[in-house]
Formats: sequence, C-alpha cells, structure tokens
Amino acid sequence: MIPRLKGTDDILPPDSAKWRILLRAFDDLSAKYGYDLALMPVLESTELFARGVGAGTEVVEKQMYTFVDRGGRSVTLRPEFTAGIVRAYLESGGNGVMKVAASGPQFRYEQPQKGRRRQFYQVDLEYLGEQGARADVEIIEMSYELLVTVGVPGITVHLNSIGDAADRLAYRELLRDFLRSVAAELSADARKRIEDNPLRVLDSKIDADIVASAPVPLDHLGSETAAHFAAVRAGLDEAGIPYEVAPRLVRGLDYYNRTVFELFSTAFEAAQSSLGGGGRYDPLGELIGAKHPVPAVGVALGCDRIVAAMLAPAGPRLDLFVAVAAEARIVEAARWVRRLREAGHRVDWTGSAPSLKAQFKTADRSGARGVAVVGDEWDGGEVRVKDMTTGEETTVRIEEVGEWLHR
Ligand code: HAM
Repeated sequence: MIPRLKGTDDILPPDSAKWRILLRAFDDLSAKYGYDLALMPVLESTELFARGVGAGTEVVEKQMYTFVDRGGRSVTLRPEFTAGIVRAYLESGGNGVMKVAASGPQFRYEQPQKGRRRQFYQVDLEYLGEQGARADVEIIEMSYELLVTVGVPGITVHLNSIGDAADRLAYRELLRDFLRSVAAELSADARKRIEDNPLRVLDSKIDADIVASAPVPLDHLGSETAAHFAAVRAGLDEAGIPYEVAPRLVRGLDYYNRTVFELFSTAFEAAQSSLGGGGRYDPLGELIGAKHPVPAVGVALGCDRIVAAMLAPAGPRLDLFVAVAAEARIVEAARWVRRLREAGHRVDWTGSAPSLKAQFKTADRSGARGVAVVGDEWDGGEVRVKDMTTGEETTVRIEEVGEWLHR
C-alpha cells in the first residue's frame, strides 16, 4: 500500500454527495448573478504569487509548493485563485467588467488538522473592472446566499474596511508607535511584524488582549473610503444580510484595500476558522504589471469547511433503481431506463438480471428512493414498485412511474 500524502483527502461516496450539492448550488448561484465560468491553471509562475499575494505573507513565505520545472523555471501550485484570475484578465486585454466563478483545488503547506488541509478546495467569485460599492455588496450577498442554500447554520459575516494605500500610510505609523510601546508584551511573531507588516498584528489571536486597545484602520479612513464603506453597509442592510463590523479584521494576503470580510458558522467547531473570506483588491492588478488600476472585489469559500458545516443529509442520490425479473426482459428494461433518464430522472440498474434478492440488495446500497421491477406485469403495461423509505409495495402503470416518484 502506498498511502495518500498527509493533508490530502480522497473524497469518495457517500461523503462526496454533499460536495455535489455544494458545487451544483455554486454553479446555479453564479449563473443566476451573471458570473461566467473560469477554468484556471493549477501551476503558475512563482513570481505571480510573490508579487501578487505578497512576499511577506505567511502563504508565500511558508506555505507554497514551489519547485523548479524541467525547463528551469520556478513554478508554484496555486495557493489561491485571485492572482491567477487577475493575470488572466490582464493577459486577455484587461478591459471592462469581467465576472467569473471558479472552483478547484488549492495547495498550501500547512500543519494539517481538521479544516486545515494541504490540498483543499475553494469556490471563488471575482468581480473585476468595477469600483462601486454595489460590487462589494453583490459578492458578500452571494457568499451568504450560497451558505444558506446548502444548509450551513448560524452564519455571521465579519466586515471591515482597511482603507486605501493613502489612508494606511499615516495609520501604519500610528499603529507602529502603539506596537513599539507594548513590544515587550507582544509575541515574538508579532514583534517581528511591527516593521514589515504591522497590520497583521491586529488579528493575532495570541496578542488579542494587548492589541485590543490599538488604533484601528476604521477610525482613520479618508472621506472617499469612509463613504465607500458606508455604501457597502447600506447595501448589506438593504439586502437583509446580517453582519458585524469587526474593526480588527485584516486579511492574510497583501493585495486588499477598503472592504474586507470573512464568513463564520456556529456549526464549525473551531470558531475562529472562517468558511470564506475576501474583499476589494484594487492594488493587485498593478502589483503584477497592469499599466492602469484594475478595481476588483472577490471571495473564496473553503469547500472542505462548508461541507463539514452542512447540516442537512444529502438525501437520496437516485430516484429509481430498476430491477429486472428475467434475462429475457433486459432489452425492454434498458430502453425504459434510457427513457426515464431522458425525462430527467436519476436512474440506475445492474444492466443484467441476477436474482431479484441480489438486485434489491444493490438497490438498497444505491440509496434509491424507489425500486421498480420489470417482470411479468410489463406485458400488461405495469411494473411493481417499492418505496424504499416506507417499504410500501404496489403496482403502477409504466407511464405513471414518474408521478409515483414525485408523489
Ligand atoms: P483565504 O482567506 O486565504 O482567501 O481563503 C479563503 C477560504 O479558503 C478560507 O476562509 C477557508 O475556508 C479556505 N481555506 C484556506 N486555507 C485552507 C486550508 N489550508 N484548508 C482548508 N480550507 C482552507 C483567499 O484565498 C482569497 N483568494 C480570497 C479572495 C478572492 N479574495 C478576493 N477574491
């Protein structure tokens, strides 16, 4: 046996049923809001993340799967979608609005535990080319709606504004002064960050008590960024999305400005682990070479964590299992199975005629809501059916099986 690598998962039935619900809901939701599909490379130039996500971030510094390929280039398994999507937008012309939805595996070399994997999955929405607060509201609204749709309980949105670069210039000095004054009490990690990335100290869990009295970006916004934040809040209020302002929320990636947010659920044990997060990232385009600003906002939600928080059972995976009473009826049964599938029913069968007992056993394992037996009744235009939930058996007309299923 060669076991799977630490921090990776095989997502197989029956657990994969919830994944299918999530991915379908994401697909429906993004189509409904006008987001097109983006299929992105898993491998990108290492430089894209170093410049886009930020060389000093934990993701880039400690967690990337980076190697030199056979052509001597430094490449990285993507740790997130956003930098790659902005690169693709710029490479394809970089004009106008692009709204895209992406999903797939990401790679971060983390200390594996529940909800913290080395290969994990994200569903991701990016809204590029729009600077208005409406875009921020739409992204947050969609994130919330997705979690509600798939049955995640107790969702809260934490919302903050970290201002623009200009707002931060003055604020950063203020924060540094404060942190230097309490440096002796800070953790070694936080102390290291005072000079290179003081904002990150704000959401340090171990330093929470000390930074509770630190100045926060929200109190130092310029008039434009303050108006933007007020518009985001008004939009969320109007959409009926519950949120809390979290003045110490900063994100772990360097490309953000203005709006940042994270989503949490009461169902996910580690209360501090977010189900998703995102924000506005207007600086990212220029960080990776754009000649003009690319206003943009987006979100990524962690599928592994969402699935762990989904309460509702996945429900029956098949509508009907077709059992065949005799070898001679296989062709009839095959045609009927095809007709049922064409009509949109989820149908399976063994494709052969072992004993009915064996077929019922397979049907039971298949998770079908009902079983129909193609037997002697077929000649009279009927099949025997069994409701697998109640155990009830009856005979129905072949053309009425669809109605029986959805009764
Ligand atoms: P992020 O906060 O790094 O943001 O990741 C988003 C979500 O991915 C997290 O809230 C979490 O649910 C999930 N996640 C992250 N790391 C892991 C892990 N090791 N194991 C399991 N789940 C994990 C981003 O990735 C940004 N690109 C989001 C964004 C999109 N911002 C703008 N557009």
